[in-house]
Amino acid sequence: MEPPQIYVERTLAIIKPDAIDCADEIEEIIYRSGFTVLQKRRAHLTPEQTSDFYAEHYGKMFFPSLVAYMSSGPIIAMVLAKENAVNYWRELIGPTNCFRARETHPDSIRALYGTDDQRNAVHGSDQYGAEREIRFMFPESIVEPIPSGQAAKDYLAKLVNPTLLRGLTNLCKQKPGDPITWLADWLIQNNPNKPCVNDKVEIVEP
Ligand code: CMP
Repeated sequence: MEPPQIYVERTLAIIKPDAIDCADEIEEIIYRSGFTVLQKRRAHLTPEQTSDFYAEHYGKMFFPSLVAYMSSGPIIAMVLAKENAVNYWRELIGPTNCFRARETHPDSIRALYGTDDQRNAVHGSDQYGAEREIRFMFPESIVEPIPSGQAAKDYLAKLVNPTLLRGLTNLCKQKPGDPITWLADWLIQNNPNKPCVNDKVEIVEP
């Protein structure tokens, strides 16, 4: 029987201005929960940028105060990767309203670090918004599905495993004191994609 496919997904997390002083603690929770932080940046959004980011809430009663709050101080935006990252992160942060979060999800990030229904410490994309929000905060990032299952196996088998296997075999023979640095150096020296310089220079007479 085929093993179940594991899909690594990406989502956007934001530590909001009201929780910026607790950023280290929140990042610690993120790492402990098994997320990989692929990208991270600290930013201070203008009201215009904030309005664009939250465009789907335009026209709602709370929109003007949301824009004022989110542009009131620095934020930290992160691209998180993990299996089922969107839902997992939303589960971890808890309900939007911190008062409700404290009642129903007392261990959630919003229950622990949020202030009220608006200043709720963190943001998490939903399933439909993740790609757009990652691009918004990290315009240079390429949002392609991370290869998984057979596609990942094929990729590694073709382009990585043959070189890695040679390197690991040599490593076991040498048994250096710092194997990681040794392997890193070996990979740089033996990178099959490294351009070769042909030292036989042929001079063609005019
Ligand atoms: P977030 O998950 O970032 O998405 C939209 C944000 O709008 C939300 O968190 C809150 O900060 C804010 N928000 C949502 N609902 C309300 C509300 N009823 N009153 C005030 N702010 C809200």
